[in-house]
Amino acid sequence: THQWRGIIEEYRDRLPVSDTTPVVTLREGGTPLVPAQVLSERTGCEVHLKVEGANPTGSFKDRGMTMAISKAKEEGAKAVICASTGNTSASAAAYGVRAGMVSAVLVPQGKIALGKMGQALVHGAKILQVDGNFDDCLTLARELSENYPVALVNSVNPVRIEGQKTAAFEIVDMLGDAPDIHVLPVGNAGNITAYWKGYREYAGDGIATRTPRMWGFQASGSAPIVRGEVVKDPSTIATAIRIGNPASWSLALAARDESGGAIDEVTDREILRAYRLLAAQEGVFVEPASAASVAGLLKAAEQGKVDPGQRIVCTVTGNGLKDPDWAVAGAPQPVTVPVDAATAAERLGLA
Ligand code: F0G
Repeated sequence: THQWRGIIEEYRDRLPVSDTTPVVTLREGGTPLVPAQVLSERTGCEVHLKVEGANPTGSFKDRGMTMAISKAKEEGAKAVICASTGNTSASAAAYGVRAGMVSAVLVPQGKIALGKMGQALVHGAKILQVDGNFDDCLTLARELSENYPVALVNSVNPVRIEGQKTAAFEIVDMLGDAPDIHVLPVGNAGNITAYWKGYREYAGDGIATRTPRMWGFQASGSAPIVRGEVVKDPSTIATAIRIGNPASWSLALAARDESGGAIDEVTDREILRAYRLLAAQEGVFVEPASAASVAGLLKAAEQGKVDPGQRIVCTVTGNGLKDPDWAVAGAPQPVTVPVDAATAAERLGLA
């Protein structure tokens, strides 16, 4: 009878909700913190994976969306809108259903993974494919929310960040203190902002004795924060983080600098290598963007930037099923056999 109640009920006293806020939840959060044996061996550290693909719609966005949709409902909104590289729209679509609201989503045409598109469609969102990139979608979503009766639920909405900070709480609650380093992928930079806020709050209240260094990784073709300038035509196979002008840019810099951390880049090749390692050696199937955190950790370790003996948490942000094309591509085709045990045993190398 005791199941996780979702992040609002579990962390109610740390979130901007009141007794009268309607709680729109799919019982998000409470995700696994999985010890990563191979990554630990490679780095000489104690590495854990915060598996956010285990959320109800398969990504960390649900933490922010339960807050954003609950607050929008409290304020009487009938419709919500977001720009998205896919996961935010999937989450907004699902939570919109729970709230009885219309979800409008703007996605870059041809640049979101099929699974995410399927989620928005099956939940009945109103989808527009925009002839532009994510940054264009966000500009359009902002304009629409300013001029029409529709609430913006992108992470520029501060209650999104409030919801997402709960992942840091869960990690400290689980480990007994903050890790030495926290690693995560960076796209629009909301999540690194949220984790840093969560860690600071727990340290400020004495629940953790310290805060971690925040390490963020962008994809090389979409690395405006690393370059120090807007990327006009961002590219990467990790479509979730194909963003050239992050909304929370300055907050990401603050997280980096206040924590003594770093924001660096990883190539698509490095992302895919980490993606395959996670699946084939840790048993954790993530979407490519999520593997940017692990790719970054491995790159830093190879560069001698990771002192052994530290406790490190990598957030893996989304489920591998969202974007299975990369799992299938380049993998050997399965062999077809007749209904015959001897042949099957032979092909499986058992005989
Ligand atoms: N990983 C995944 C799987 C994502 O979907 C995103 C962002 C990120 C990492 C980066 O997080 O933007 O907070 O720095 N996805 C947004 C979306 C942009 O529309 O779903 P961030």
